Amino acid sequence: MGTVILGTGSCLPERVVTNHDLAEIVETNDEWIRTRTGIKTRRIAAAGEETYRLAARAAEQALAMAGVAAADLDLIVVGTITSHMLMPSTACFVQKEIGATKAFAFDLNAACPGFLYGLDVADQYVRADPSRKILVIGAETLSTRTNWEDRNTCVLFGDGAGAAVVGGGPQGRGMVGSVLCSDGRLWSLLHMHAPVSNNADLEEPDHPGVHIIMEGREVFKYAVKAMETSISDLLHREGVSLDEIDLFIPHQANIRILNKLVERIGIPLEKVFINVEKYGNTSAASIPIALDEANRGGRLKPGNKLLICSFGGGFTWGASLINW
Ligand code: ACO
Repeated sequence: MGTVILGTGSCLPERVVTNHDLAEIVETNDEWIRTRTGIKTRRIAAAGEETYRLAARAAEQALAMAGVAAADLDLIVVGTITSHMLMPSTACFVQKEIGATKAFAFDLNAACPGFLYGLDVADQYVRADPSRKILVIGAETLSTRTNWEDRNTCVLFGDGAGAAVVGGGPQGRGMVGSVLCSDGRLWSLLHMHAPVSNNADLEEPDHPGVHIIMEGREVFKYAVKAMETSISDLLHREGVSLDEIDLFIPHQANIRILNKLVERIGIPLEKVFINVEKYGNTSAASIPIALDEANRGGRLKPGNKLLICSFGGGFTWGASLINW
């Protein structure tokens, strides 16, 4: 049996924030943001649109497409770094919201690759018992953790959620495998403090607030190299050539990272799914939102080889290969 994606869904907040809107609150402009990041607009959650609510709406769409009832789910895994509470998890709130009474539920903090890590967790559970039905979600309200006075970061991020229902399917279809990596030594290049933390053993004595803090240039360099290496390791291990890939969905961080990665691995641009211009960087939600758009837009046909990859704070990164 294979571990297949039975349905996908996504949910974006309604409020669209343009680069011109941002130019009203920090010293920036549309041209700078577009040329440096490729981002034109992003969605920002309104009051009452917590991470779990976006996640639950994405989940309901994925369940409907899969033809799976929420009550039949065995597990809910949510990749997020922007839960509205530290406890309970966003996954428990999703469980309550959709009525998945049988499922156990937990969050997974792997920053931007949270959905990728979640898919791998689901793959292991389905391999152990192909009758299991698992909901994997990537959901964020990064706007709640953005420093709106820091033009270096506030132009990059957006809110949203994407979901996939995963279960057993025919042999030869579904998850082929993943390469997942982390390097905690590089934590300080991209991080966000907890609301209260004892920093006695860290290098930053002053608590800078619960905001995303980033060394943009360093992150850029590591992101491209790390994603490139994980893709080549994965394809080499699975004996698949790049020519065989039908669709590549990279983490939608920014267009320059994407272009550099695409150039380094040498995949034709028409095989790359890009929507960063609409939503900005939605961290763990970026891949499942793109996956849902690709799926609903008819970009994925049965038998297609789909490659996904991501990189984020930790550092964490990886790539997965799926026979659609
Ligand atoms: N508007 C106008 N000017 C700006 C802005 C802004 N929003 N932000 C920075 N600048 C200025 C800087 O102050 C600097 O001015 P100076 O030369 O007078 O000092 C100048 O623009 C250049 O700044 P750099 O930081 O060197 O700009 P760079 O070309 O590196 O682009 C960026 C910055 C877009 C953040 C880039 O480093 C990048 O893409 N990094 C990757 C980071 C990323 O995507 N992180 C997301 C999280 S990780 C992930 O998801 C992979």
